[in-house]
Amino acid sequence: MKVTFSPTLKKEAGTLIFLCFKNKKLDDYLLEINKKNNNYINRAIKISAMEFNGRSCCEILLPQGSKADRLLLLGLQETKKFENITKYESLGSFITTELNKREIKEATLFVNKDHLKEGQEAHIIFGANLNTYRFNKYFSDKKNMRHNYLTKFNIISKNHILSKKHWNRLEAIKEGVFLTRDLVSEPANNLTPELLAKAAAKLKSYGLKVNLLDEKKLKELKMGALLGVAQGSSNKPFVVALEWKGNKSSNETDFAFVGKGVTFDTGGISIKPSGGMEEMKYDMGGSAVVIGLMKALALSKSKSNVVGIVGLVENMPSGTAQRPGDVVKSMSGQTIEVINTDAEGRLVLADVVWYAQKKYKPKKLIDLATLTGAIIVSIGQEKAGMFSNDENLANSLEKIGKEIGEPVWNMPIDDSYEKDIRSDIADMKNVGSGRGAGSTAGAIFVKRFIKNTPWVHLDIAGVTWAKSDKPMIPKGGTGFGVRLLEHLVYTNK
Ligand code: BES
Ligand code: MN
Ligand code: ZN
Repeated sequence: MKVTFSPTLKKEAGTLIFLCFKNKKLDDYLLEINKKNNNYINRAIKISAMEFNGRSCCEILLPQGSKADRLLLLGLQETKKFENITKYESLGSFITTELNKREIKEATLFVNKDHLKEGQEAHIIFGANLNTYRFNKYFSDKKNMRHNYLTKFNIISKNHILSKKHWNRLEAIKEGVFLTRDLVSEPANNLTPELLAKAAAKLKSYGLKVNLLDEKKLKELKMGALLGVAQGSSNKPFVVALEWKGNKSSNETDFAFVGKGVTFDTGGISIKPSGGMEEMKYDMGGSAVVIGLMKALALSKSKSNVVGIVGLVENMPSGTAQRPGDVVKSMSGQTIEVINTDAEGRLVLADVVWYAQKKYKPKKLIDLATLTGAIIVSIGQEKAGMFSNDENLANSLEKIGKEIGEPVWNMPIDDSYEKDIRSDIADMKNVGSGRGAGSTAGAIFVKRFIKNTPWVHLDIAGVTWAKSDKPMIPKGGTGFGVRLLEHLVYTNK
């Protein structure tokens, strides 16, 4: 969707959109129509029973001879309370839903500074954009596609330069979110570890430095935990590091982001039941967020030094697959008894977080993984599970999550859970002993590979995929995490 900005309406055509607040003056354009036509607009608002709740609109089709085709009025109520930006994003999403219902290709939104505070319009545009995402590439027949008609969105704003400035950063985030969604929705036959590594490496063109490690290199590095997972598949593993140096005056790495990239998770020899197994194509969701995030940071020319590292493997059962009971040696030197080959994500993370710390010595490390089904049992699909060894970092993520609409929930990970992963024959085992606290067992396992680095583990198993449409999120890959972490990097000065 192309977005344009101008101070005044040049071409009075197509659909014109106005925000109408319950207790505020109408836009001049509408007042003018009112004046000439005996309060026509007020009458239309009344007859249409438009509500002032951000989810209701009044459509006015204009008579022949008018320059524009229609007016779309959106009813809103001003609240004195702190206004969450997500309110404006939901409104934008509502606008594109209404426009698409009417098969409208081009629309113009009037921004009135008596109605909105600086920058709020950019969030309307953002929400509008996120809702237009489609994954249509595999339909041969256009008829079956889920259409997005809207391709041009014009913004009329007296402060159009400022409006555009606010939009620029959000547009970069949108690009990142769309890339993440594309990758998450892609079937595993067309997104093997190698193909995902190539997709990540393509970001070189945005100024990111790419460090691609193939199987030979991973063996040299002694990433035995990751390689153990990969050995059952004929698709070879990769690790890719994407480096962004936004602060040339420093050699330190402000953040390392690590993503689980299991391009398909059958469970391995501890094989999963077949019902719903197709969903395991999104088990690379953590890596997709890291890749989308790095694109957003590059496009918005982030001022920080950030590295994003993804561990890419496929978890398959085969004659070469690892067995339950096998002991592997991780890059850190610690040994792991693999009780369940379906707890593979933590094995991948173990080596990649270790590598991230060893090579980049980041000031903070955040990993993302669709790690456990248990997180869905605990907190559902509204929030990501957060586990941390650092209160400050956890607090800032919690605050940002609430603010931008990607909430995270702080989960327990104190030492009392350590005994859960004790093994009789190795330094640890890869699953907990009891049936409880499955997500914490995963997190406490990963923690064994964290040195003194302030660290957060986000279990995104519940939030990576939407089974039905939500505001701003057409069903499919959600892109959850890109905005959260972009904001974290942006506000960490
Ligand atoms: N990829 C799964 C977790 C998952 C489940 C992600 C549902 C998204 C939706 C992970 O590798 C896994 O299989 N975890 C096991 C862990 C268990 C064996 C300790 C699980 O959750 O059952
Ligand atoms: Mn698994
Ligand atoms: Zn998995």
